[in-house]
Amino acid sequence: MSVEGLDTVEAVEGRARWLFGGAFEKEGVIHPTACVRKADGAYCALRIEPRTPKSPHDLFALFFQRARADVIVSTGAILRAEPDVRYDLADSPFGPGLLAYRASLGKTEPPRVVVLSRRLDLASEHPALRAPQVELWSPQPLSGLGHRPFTGRPVEAVETLRAEGGLVVVEAGPSVTRGLHAADAIDALYLTTFAGEIDEALLAGAAFDTAGIETRLPAAGPPRRVEEPSGPWHFVRRSR
Ligand SMILES: NC(=O)c1ccc[n+]([C@@H]2O[C@H](COP(=O)([O-])OP(=O)(O)OC[C@H]3O[C@@H](n4cnc5c(N)ncnc54)[C@H](OP(=O)(O)O)[C@@H]3O)[C@@H](O)[C@H]2O)c1
Repeated sequence: MSVEGLDTVEAVEGRARWLFGGAFEKEGVIHPTACVRKADGAYCALRIEPRTPKSPHDLFALFFQRARADVIVSTGAILRAEPDVRYDLADSPFGPGLLAYRASLGKTEPPRVVVLSRRLDLASEHPALRAPQVELWSPQPLSGLGHRPFTGRPVEAVETLRAEGGLVVVEAGPSVTRGLHAADAIDALYLTTFAGEIDEALLAGAAFDTAGIETRLPAAGPPRRVEEPSGPWHFVRRSR
């Protein structure tokens, strides 16, 4: 199945339901991630770089969450590892459909993008930082960027955002998300798993601890398997 032609609200909703099943939460904290399941059962996040296996359905799944988001949480580590990452729906291959879908939710503005950083060695010309809705949560400000003084742990940032309301989409990498899962701060996990051959160098750490996941975030149903040119991929939603 192709992801071309997802340019209406119905097509976007239909494909998202086909991938993940069920109704989608309107608020709370969700974690979309693309992983590989290792022999020991750990789900390790794919490092996003040019050699990483690609899945058009996973790209759609990620942008679908961005289309629903009130806030996206990113990190300094991601901006350094992914110099081209940007969060605008219009920049995705699914722009018209996702913009229509977001409008159908009554969301007229793009989501806030909160970047957690302590070190602040961020390239000021990074495309993600040029968007007007970016906020840096860090101990010190960086010239030209919206800033919230922040000296806590990532879980405190996420709980603050949860309390502010709406849907918080955590796009952080594994060193942050492991702590969020351990603190039970994630309400739904949108898990993509690449099941083909992969170079271990393309794997980051485990995105969450699998112990207790079946009771904490049970799967909504069996995974959806999609054959992509890069190999087989599985999609499943796990939620409280
Ligand atoms: N496959 C996927 O779903 C997926 C998703 C996301 C990322 N990734 C990949 O994962 C890798 C990055 O993951 P990672 O585990 O290295 O990093 P990460 O979890 O995304 O972020 C760690 C960074 O968060 C910031 N941070 C941590 N604690 C903080 C605090 N208390 N206050 C403020 N900022 C804080 C720091 O940024 P500073 O260093 O700037 O201080 C730290 O380096 C990349 O290769 C990326 O492509 C994959």
